[in-house]
Amino acid sequence: QAAQKSGYKHFMLKEIFEQPQVIRDCLAGRVDERKQTLDIPELKTMDVPKRLSIVACGTSYHAGLWAKYIIESWARIPVQVEIASEFRYRSLVLDKDDLVLAISQSGETADTLAGMRIVREKGVPVLGLCNVVGSSVARESDAVIYTQAGPEISVASTKAMCSQLVLLTLLAYYWGEKKGTLRQEVRDTILPGLLALPKQLKEELPMIRKKAKKLAREYAWAKSFFYLGRGINFPLALEGALKLKEISYIHAEGYASGEMKHGPIALIEPDFPTFALALDDFLLPKVKSNLKEVQARGGRIIALTHKGANIQEEDTWVIPRVRGPLGSFFVLPALQLFAYEMAVYLGKDVDQPRNLAKSVTVE
Ligand code: G6P
Repeated sequence: QAAQKSGYKHFMLKEIFEQPQVIRDCLAGRVDERKQTLDIPELKTMDVPKRLSIVACGTSYHAGLWAKYIIESWARIPVQVEIASEFRYRSLVLDKDDLVLAISQSGETADTLAGMRIVREKGVPVLGLCNVVGSSVARESDAVIYTQAGPEISVASTKAMCSQLVLLTLLAYYWGEKKGTLRQEVRDTILPGLLALPKQLKEELPMIRKKAKKLAREYAWAKSFFYLGRGINFPLALEGALKLKEISYIHAEGYASGEMKHGPIALIEPDFPTFALALDDFLLPKVKSNLKEVQARGGRIIALTHKGANIQEEDTWVIPRVRGPLGSFFVLPALQLFAYEMAVYLGKDVDQPRNLAKSVTVE
């Protein structure tokens, strides 16, 4: 096992640090660097869907929620994102022109598979996005896109989500291009931005880890955490909270920051810290005003932000200023490494957290 960890203390840490290579592998053969064009051969036989339902569980569900923002914005396809265990028992309203996208790292999650089978019985096509070649999701989908993240050993999913976000970005771009709805700004920035990511992220990861370690020491006393974000950062807030729960056993809630005022703010007090995703996008002024509310109640804040965003929280954590959805590729490892360093500091079993399984093959 020590050899498999390539010198890293845990598989989770190794897998977080593999993310630059994962991005590179996901782009290989799909994005032509010279011509700056995109091809997804797996989609050749599929029309652009009129409506999309994304079905998944856990971290894969968060990837689906994230994708909704860009698929709707770039390809103008209405997207519903569904927790598979709910989806499978609902009275589904689906149409033959719809597409169901099943996202699963393992390709064996029972609820996701059950959802897919119901859909296919209704004659609605299923596109699988999964990591394990030849898995049930891969075999039972009408078409499958592999995420090419390599084997993920740590129970808490990290690099698989990174690979899902890359492929979902490509999917949104591909459909947008086919429909002619891509904005020029997206055309100009996304493919070159993706190609530049592996190098940038590789350089940044050690710095991100250093800051995560420092903050973990300062916040390991916390019994509860809020994770707040808006827009595309909201699903990442959910993922940050999930990572912290899974491996450090600290209670954490991810919330859309604008929703705090409808209840959760009642919980804020000095020993209930907030991890805020305060990145420099069009929603930043709104996030800032949400954070003022937290501060006014004495809540401590870690604010993950960009240089120049003018955030004046106690603990600001500046990550590279990559705007738009590609910024998420820096937010995600910051959240992962913060949870990792908290769990290590608290002496938890990072790779094998209690009560959790890597793949949930029963209902
Ligand atoms: C389990 C794992 C999670 C994972 C979820 C969905 O709960 O512990 O890390 O996100 O299953 O798994 P899947 O393989 O379908 O992506």
